[in-house]
Amino acid sequence: MTTIPDDPHPAIRVCMMPADTNAHGTIFGGKILSLIDQAGAIAAHRLGVGRVVTIAMREVVFTHPVRVGDIVSCYAEVLRVGRTSITVCVRVVAHRPTDIKRSVEVTKAEAVYVSIDETGRPIPIDAGASV
Ligand SMILES: CC(C)(COP(=O)(O)OP(=O)(O)OC[C@H]1O[C@@H](n2cnc3c(N)ncnc32)[C@H](O)[C@@H]1OP(=O)(O)O)[C@@H](O)C(=O)NCCC(=O)NCCS
Repeated sequence: MTTIPDDPHPAIRVCMMPADTNAHGTIFGGKILSLIDQAGAIAAHRLGVGRVVTIAMREVVFTHPVRVGDIVSCYAEVLRVGRTSITVCVRVVAHRPTDIKRSVEVTKAEAVYVSIDETGRPIPIDAGASV
């Protein structure tokens, strides 16, 4: 396993579609939670670990609405590598199609992943993996 430098690129970038809306016509919070979870797992995999599962997602506060047509980017940064766990901070930024130069941070969350074996039990992360 190797040490991976900070990634300036988003782990995920996606355009929000009408199928992702809630009853009010803005984007369903669960859609964004799913993107956070995927982006964090992608960052964890960049460390060279095999299977990971999400054990925790810490406080997620949605400070701005996300709308259909917004381009949402999830920036993921590995904060900590423990014995079996990896903690990732995911920052979610929406670019409005009407003003592509303007971006709004809509939420930020810490997600924790555990490295597991094929039976689902936690296994130690290679000592070579670090932030
Ligand atoms: C993830 C799982 C295998 C962990 O098993 P476990 O026996 O509870 O594991 P442990 O108690 O040994 O903890 C494993 C690591 O998780 C960390 N951890 C445990 N509870 C935690 C919590 N609430 N928040 C953050 N980290 C936590 C521990 O500190 C440990 O990290 P470390 O080894 O780096 O110190 C098990 O809980 C599981 O299968 N959960 C379901 C995962 C899943 O399916 N997620 C998808 C969503 S449904």
